[in-house]
Amino acid sequence: MMPFYLNLHPNVILLASIALGIIIYRSIRRSWTRRQFAKAHGCKPIARSLSKDPFLGLDLLPGTFRAIRENRILVRSLEFFKTHGNTFTVRELHVSAIVTIEPENIKTVLSLKFQDFCIAHRLKCMKPLLGEGIFDTDGDHWAASRALIRPSFNRDQVADLRSLESIFQDFFSLLPRDGETVVDLKDLFFRYTIDSATEFLFGQSVGTLKKSEAELGFADAFHYAQKAILMRGMLGPLEYFFPDRRAEECNCICRDFVQQFVDEAVNAVETRKAEGEKADPSSTRPKRIFSHELAAQTSDKTRILDELMNVLLAGRDTTASLLTNMFFMLAKNPAIWDKLRREVAFLEGRLPTYEELCNMKYVHCCMNESLRLHPVVPRNDRQAVRDTVLPLGGGKDGLSPIFVPKGTLVLYNLYAMHRRKDIYGPDADEFRPERWEDGKLMPRWGFLPFNGGPRICIGQRYALTEAGYVLVRMVQEFRSLVSRDPNEWEETRGLTVTSHNGAKVSLIPA
Ligand code: HEM
Repeated sequence: MMPFYLNLHPNVILLASIALGIIIYRSIRRSWTRRQFAKAHGCKPIARSLSKDPFLGLDLLPGTFRAIRENRILVRSLEFFKTHGNTFTVRELHVSAIVTIEPENIKTVLSLKFQDFCIAHRLKCMKPLLGEGIFDTDGDHWAASRALIRPSFNRDQVADLRSLESIFQDFFSLLPRDGETVVDLKDLFFRYTIDSATEFLFGQSVGTLKKSEAELGFADAFHYAQKAILMRGMLGPLEYFFPDRRAEECNCICRDFVQQFVDEAVNAVETRKAEGEKADPSSTRPKRIFSHELAAQTSDKTRILDELMNVLLAGRDTTASLLTNMFFMLAKNPAIWDKLRREVAFLEGRLPTYEELCNMKYVHCCMNESLRLHPVVPRNDRQAVRDTVLPLGGGKDGLSPIFVPKGTLVLYNLYAMHRRKDIYGPDADEFRPERWEDGKLMPRWGFLPFNGGPRICIGQRYALTEAGYVLVRMVQEFRSLVSRDPNEWEETRGLTVTSHNGAKVSLIPA
């Protein structure tokens, strides 16, 4: 039997040959241009690759699955940097990336060459829950989101501690005070932050601290919907073979729930506008509510809904994870608790003001140290939108620039960078808030719990106020915090990283 192509019309063969020729020519030209570009920038190849199998990185998979099962993904990554240096390449199934813990590379990705990188790959996993907003879009859409949201994070908004105290009281009422009973603070911190986030965003807390486990509908749905984002990210294109109906249901529950606050905000703003002309200018300014602030700037309800979902996701688990990780370590270090008590003693039991909170240096050292040792967002990535260059990682010594082809994922690992002994000293693996005390430690791009550059966390001040407030109030209320967990801190997988075993403590009142 003759091969099929011998039966084809000569014109078809000619056209196919031309097309093939064009493809080959373009590919040769691209690789030549890239070589010239890399040469002009003094780039050298990255000397080490983590995966031996260059196509699917199958050799890495058994270890990855084991590390996931044993909650050791981050710990395992430390070993990789020890054996492969600060920058290497990796391939695992559909993901191929450059991995780095060089502050200069991270600064280049996030700031100096901000326009060369994007997060477009994030949208696909997040859109079903979040829609399109500040956290999952790029370019003009992102810039408009940031401009829309930024005014709601000004100092006045963040400095109002009254609602934090009211939610703290709900939290406080659930704490045992006999010095014996063991309580896991993790669950309560997650409730605290969803209550305060919804109060801040919608003007009404969902009040999970006042509810029983069975009544936590929205919070549970939100939790599941977030886990599903992680799963979609892991599956990549395989997602279509593993449809998750529960995730779809939870996305709807969450979006429908938030939609009612959008409607309420748009109505409130319209009423305010209608009555605006008649308003008495001397009357006191109403409390500012995030959703109302957005509704005052746009009447596009989908936009408001999407931005609220984005900020809720960005702000809720992050702060709860910081609190859980920090209290886990504080419970293991009674001397640090005592020192905190000495710092807050000047308040003589009264509530701190915002300014006082900002000036409590040791409180901030403890938060910094927790975010250093257990960064809540321990790994992050960006994708190159054009051929570009990073300053370090090339050649045997890793000190030459590297070429980053368009489409490459650059993954940066803060968990490992925050433990670099050449940045933090020989005791980098220890929890020692004092290292921040005299202000001499200035790792700049070597310390990035809130990211950096134009996309730096917009809620940083709010988060530190919220976490600092809980810490100060707990220190005021309790003479000691006793760890009831014999284990070391262990990571847990999620969009953020929290102590796997929570923060099991018992509390002795002051
Ligand atoms: C300890 C608490 C927090 C930590 C460690 C944290 C960390 C981060 C990080 C690392 C990013 C960058 C993500 C990326 O671009 O890949 C980020 C972005 C963001 N964070 Fe936070 N965050 C915290 C709390 C909050 C809070 C409380 C809010 C709001 C109430 C918030 C709102 C946002 C928003 C809206 C973005 C997106 C900014 C943008 O892309 O322009 N964060 N945060």
